[in-house]
Amino acid sequence: MQRTFKTSDGAELNYISAGSGRSNKLDGKVALVTGGTSGIGLATAKHFVAEGAYVFITGRRQAELNAAVEALGENVTGVQSDVSNWEDLDRLFATIQQEQGRLDVLFANAGGGGIAPLGAITEEHFDKTFNTNVKGLLFTVQKALPLLPEGASIILNASTASTVGTPAFSVYSATKAAVRSFARNWTLDLKDRKIRVNAISPGVVPTPGYDHLGLSNEQVQDFIDSQAVAIPLGRVGTPDEIAKAVVFLASDDSSFVNGIELFVDGGMAQV
Ligand SMILES: NC(=O)c1ccc[n+]([C@@H]2O[C@H](COP(=O)([O-])OP(=O)(O)OC[C@H]3O[C@@H](n4cnc5c(N)ncnc54)[C@H](OP(=O)(O)O)[C@@H]3O)[C@@H](O)[C@H]2O)c1
Repeated sequence: MQRTFKTSDGAELNYISAGSGRSNKLDGKVALVTGGTSGIGLATAKHFVAEGAYVFITGRRQAELNAAVEALGENVTGVQSDVSNWEDLDRLFATIQQEQGRLDVLFANAGGGGIAPLGAITEEHFDKTFNTNVKGLLFTVQKALPLLPEGASIILNASTASTVGTPAFSVYSATKAAVRSFARNWTLDLKDRKIRVNAISPGVVPTPGYDHLGLSNEQVQDFIDSQAVAIPLGRVGTPDEIAKAVVFLASDDSSFVNGIELFVDGGMAQV
């Protein structure tokens, strides 16, 4: 159905509507968002449900998981699990197998990092960051493979840190460079199954994840302000802006997009 609206300056705006207020880009699809209880993952899960998908979300903290499931409201299952834990991943995919039997969209999003300059990097910091962002992401995707049909879409959450340097952020950045590399290589490993693999690289997007960086509130605010002026669009991004790009990569709108790193960063790492 074509609809016409008037904008505030009186101009006419035409668009084709699916008739229900949502565009149904993911109608009937089954999706998994790891780390779907907060920030970019939660925003993406909301968009996935709004676009017609059935969504599984994960996170380690049960209370946050319950709150996210409640906020999403419908077509969602929460599975408490840690991506760096082998048994948790097995239980997660057994649940998806049992409840839906397949997975059309996998957003491997769970991850995070902290500040540690070279000279002060501990073994614990290294293991924690790599276990979640690299090992966890790798085995999330590998253990999902039996559930993925031909035409499935895998989206890996990388970061602009995959290509640019940031003081005291080398371990995190190295994990994200690995994620970007996984997308290239897995595109080839999965080509016979016609499964697409793409990386998305958000720029500076304030989320609750910033509370875990090891900085005070004031330091976080200073960081955000200093980044905003270096971003061509003059501001930081929102989880919603990342989620919309993930919907594009998840949906058939991106059916010929494969192996890329889609930067959603206001131009920060592009100039
Ligand atoms: N925000 C940015 O500026 C930015 C920029 C580039 C890339 N990214 C990437 O975007 C992703 C999401 O970050 P965010 O900023 O949205 O952070 P966030 O708000 O802290 O959300 C992180 C989510 O991941 C979950 N999580 C963390 N470790 C996990 C684990 N081991 N197993 C399962 N779930 C886990 C968290 O829940 P629990 O803590 O309960 O497990 C939470 O749901 C990360 O991969 C991050 O590196 C973020």
